Amino acid sequence: MPNGLACEEVTPERPLQEKKGEMMFEIFSRTDNKIIYVSPESTILEAMHEAEINHTHVCGDKARCTTCRVYIMDGLSNCLPRNEKETHLAEKLGLPQDIRLACQTRISGNITIRRPVVDDLDIEIVLKQLGDTPGSKLGQEKNLAILFTDIENYTEFAEALPAYDVVHVLNRYYQTMNEIIVQHKGVISDVAGDGILALFGAIEDSKNPVLGAINAVNAMNAALTQFNGYLKQMYDRSFGIRAGINFGKVIVGNFDTGMMSKISAIGDAVNFASRIETANKNFGTKMLISQSAYEEVQGLVKTHKIYRTILKGKSGEYILYEVEI
Ligand code: FES
Repeated sequence: MPNGLACEEVTPERPLQEKKGEMMFEIFSRTDNKIIYVSPESTILEAMHEAEINHTHVCGDKARCTTCRVYIMDGLSNCLPRNEKETHLAEKLGLPQDIRLACQTRISGNITIRRPVVDDLDIEIVLKQLGDTPGSKLGQEKNLAILFTDIENYTEFAEALPAYDVVHVLNRYYQTMNEIIVQHKGVISDVAGDGILALFGAIEDSKNPVLGAINAVNAMNAALTQFNGYLKQMYDRSFGIRAGINFGKVIVGNFDTGMMSKISAIGDAVNFASRIETANKNFGTKMLISQSAYEEVQGLVKTHKIYRTILKGKSGEYILYEVEI
């Protein structure tokens, strides 16, 4: 291990340290409330261990587990670029630029970090992420297209048929619609009863996620023609789809309940998309999109009526555009 390194309680901002004739940089660990000294040759992890900080490193510094990850709160430009091993893992998991592997990262100036993995539960969560969908994001702010759909006539359908048939038909419906959503670079985040929440631009980057969501709704409607043939023959019923689309900034990431892991979005933009979908009932429309979504596809899709409306649970008035199906 190069150099004798040490740690101490935090004191105000200081110039670079020189120890044993060698330049040392400072790592301020917010998690530990300590300053750790590191030479240019040592990784962050080596410095943390030298300073007797119990920094997690399950894979033994081999860039395989990411349990040593640190959030670079300040001084990202003082971190040397990712090496090949770190790049490989970062791309696989979609790690943001400011999340670095302590076992691989060397620095060329002072930095401030936070260690997000501090106990067994954190380790379990992080290790599970390694098995998630390649390219899934582990907590990022992104602009996404958020699509909510529900089924017209679902309540009557569910009330009229035995539970087994309802579940069977819904499974067929979800299966069919999932394929279409994935084809358009979307991912189903959640289903509830007859409702689907899908995100576009969350896993696969897309040039125009709103256009992807609109095209998906059109394809879902086309597939419904065939699906309704089956429903008519088996149950003398048919479905219609109502859709609401919003475009906005959300926090997207993989959430693990212990029973299942799923990609989810958090933010008011999600709630807004749900309200837009519900507004279809008031206007007798099939697909409504928000102003922000409209601006992404203006000139690319045909719109009909424009509605100025209030939305349940939101203050003020909103403009919604009816998109041709
Ligand atoms: S210790 Fe496993 S990736 Fe760094």
